[in-house]
Amino acid sequence: MRKHIVAGNWKMNNDLAQTETLISELKKQIKTSDAEVMIAPSFTNLWHTFEATRNDDIEVVAQNMHFAENGAYTGEVSASMLKSVGIQTVILGHSERRAYYNETDESLAKKVDAALAHDMRIIFCFGEELADRKAGNEESVVESQIKNALFHLEALTFKNIVLAYEPVWAIGTGETASPEQAQDMHAFIRKTLESKYGNVVADDMTILYGGSVKPANAKEIFGKPDVDGGLIGGAALKAEDFYAIVNAF
Ligand code: PGA
Repeated sequence: MRKHIVAGNWKMNNDLAQTETLISELKKQIKTSDAEVMIAPSFTNLWHTFEATRNDDIEVVAQNMHFAENGAYTGEVSASMLKSVGIQTVILGHSERRAYYNETDESLAKKVDAALAHDMRIIFCFGEELADRKAGNEESVVESQIKNALFHLEALTFKNIVLAYEPVWAIGTGETASPEQAQDMHAFIRKTLESKYGNVVADDMTILYGGSVKPANAKEIFGKPDVDGGLIGGAALKAEDFYAIVNAF
């Protein structure tokens, strides 16, 4: 059985006081769920959030990391730094990082290698832009993003990888991919994995959908056979909405 995951990406939101408030509201909402729950606060709040949720069914994950071990990279954070504050999982390749910080397939491949070298779990994000979809190129764009950053890996390492399909046109726009569009792409992603790594890796892969998931649409999207959960932005900032999404399974 594939794991179900719902991960909240807080992006650059919530200072320390707001983080404390949101954590205490999240704790009130926790129920036994079929899905693993993750939240990704900013770097400054990782340690505090990790400590504050130590005994809860919530995993704290990072939004990004550098590929180098250490050194002269002002403003960056390494895998070993994350691990030293209890973080086991990192989001890599989010479209906002690709768009605003020039992250490329090549730099992401290095980040993937660095995270795996530290035995971290990766939520690897990718997805087409609106122009790609309008031109009918969404599958080739997604295929090349996956191949370029991940297909140098050995099959065994995929147990540490979760994929997150996030069509750029649906992120923060209120426009969601239809459940059918999500299903079609997720099935294509699984087929792409199968072509290189075989059906065990493909069948076991957790593939999340991200892009304007809300309580009102989560159930229908998560009901599709190849959608194994969600990466949630805006709706993760409200405890009630976030857990309504978690409980959509
Ligand atoms: P959104 O963000 O839910 O606000 O669209 C999703 C994401 O960027 O991961």
